[in-house]
Amino acid sequence: MIKLGVLISGGGTNLQAIIDACTAGTLDAEIVLVIASKPDAYGLKRAQEAGIPTIGLTREVYNEQHAADTLIAEEFTRADAEYIVMAGYMRRVTDPLLAAYPDHVINIHPALLPSFAGAHGIQDAWDKGVKVTGVTVHFANAVYDDGPIIAQQAVEIRKDDTIETLEERIHAVEHELYPATLQLLAEGRLHIGTDRHVYLT
Ligand code: GRF
Repeated sequence: MIKLGVLISGGGTNLQAIIDACTAGTLDAEIVLVIASKPDAYGLKRAQEAGIPTIGLTREVYNEQHAADTLIAEEFTRADAEYIVMAGYMRRVTDPLLAAYPDHVINIHPALLPSFAGAHGIQDAWDKGVKVTGVTVHFANAVYDDGPIIAQQAVEIRKDDTIETLEERIHAVEHELYPATLQLLAEGRLHIGTDRHVYLT
């Protein structure tokens, strides 16, 4: 059983998928603390309903990202979190958190990285007219949507898609892929090689 700290900014549907997988026993993990970058993030309610401790940080705290990440690292360490899971967390992680959790911070992105990094991965892929996009789970580093790629799943863009139907299918893939990938972590099957590629054993 691994202990997870989760970072969110919004609705928390990925957080919910992880909570549900823990409850169902398909993910051998416990979420020990959820921290939101906004005090009113709806995901905080989902955590509270599941009996998970939460912290909602304010804009004032985030004015100084280094101080904020120092605080976040302290809180996750105090809660005994072993891995940090970014789930719709719309901020970069910086040194204080990465140093406390080297190669132990994971992110999900709604596109096939390195394409369409940034805050609008689905929209940007749609606007470009690509025929295949998807979902990426990766270890996070100090560069936004960078870091060793753990898992990817493709999502085809269909002729009759709208941005809304595409979004729906991408989110559905996220909600399956994220808990499944975290389970590989729980099983100790993910290793970063000297080439900084992720290998599955
Ligand atoms: C997800 O699409 C995630 O990949 C992106 O932001 C969205 C968050 O959704 N970074 P939710 O808060 O998990 O519902």
